[in-house]
Amino acid sequence: MKQEARDAHTRVVAFANQKGGVGKTTTAVNLGGEFALRGLRVLLVDCDPQGNATTSLGITKRDLTTTTYDVIMGMAEPDQAIRSTGRNGYDLMPASEHLAGAMIELTAVERREWRLAEALGKIETRYDWVLLDCPPSLGLLTLNALCAASGVLIPLQCEFLALEGLAQLKGTIDRIHDHLNARLTIVGVVMTMYDGRTNLAQQVVEEVRRYFPQRICNILIPRSVRLSEAPSYGQLIAEYDPQSRAAQAYAALAEEVLGRVERRVAA
Ligand SMILES: Nc1ncnc2c1ncn2[C@@H]1O[C@H](COP(=O)(O)OP(=O)(O)OP(=O)(O)O)[C@@H](O)[C@H]1O
Ligand SMILES: [Mg+2]
Repeated sequence: MKQEARDAHTRVVAFANQKGGVGKTTTAVNLGGEFALRGLRVLLVDCDPQGNATTSLGITKRDLTTTTYDVIMGMAEPDQAIRSTGRNGYDLMPASEHLAGAMIELTAVERREWRLAEALGKIETRYDWVLLDCPPSLGLLTLNALCAASGVLIPLQCEFLALEGLAQLKGTIDRIHDHLNARLTIVGVVMTMYDGRTNLAQQVVEEVRRYFPQRICNILIPRSVRLSEAPSYGQLIAEYDPQSRAAQAYAALAEEVLGRVERRVAA
């Protein structure tokens, strides 16, 4: 009962793909920004020792004292790690390279895959959306994220071999759903770095559409130099270049994802 009540309010969504550099972080930080712009309360949890989401939001990792690592290890309460990103309604639980240690230090700990879920359970009702930016692996950190989440968003790069590894990811999600977290579903597959001028990009989208006819998002995120520049200024694309096609695409994707999740809750 408690679980259902929670689902009705907070959406906890993991951005996962064990492939590196496919747009997980870019999609998580920018969708978070779009949700916050729409008046929703957002917490982004950086679950990656690379800390790219933290840096992308303009927060210097050097200055961090309490991070996702401390929370997962049970050494700090979530509130001690959470901070404002300086944007209205948009908070961050930052990460640093310490988080890599959690993978090893938790190996022998009981219920080690539930550490993040249990910590977020204490605070998540304060948010409408909790977004979990996963590292490029299917290891313990991603497992923690998928146990804490009610949905997964899978960013896929529009390139040759994009689908490689997708069966493994789908298999992992299915196993987690069947054995650990029955509320987990795939919210959508987001095609990133789309270049409509190439046949290859169009073919990849068609192939993914055949594989995931219901799940593929209609909005394609274009390949955009502006999008790759924005994080180095600690800015969202909506701040760095609001008129760009990439900014418009993320705004439209936010609307689509909100629609998808509302429909799912209503069903
Ligand atoms: N649509 C895009 N067009 C151009 N560059 C992009 C786009 N999306 C992301 N990038 C750039 O590609 C790189 C990888 O993106 P990002 O960090 O979001 O991927 P990731 O899946 O989170 O990577 P990792 O697996 O290392 O965590 C970054 O330099 C980012 O700025
Ligand atoms: Mg990343």
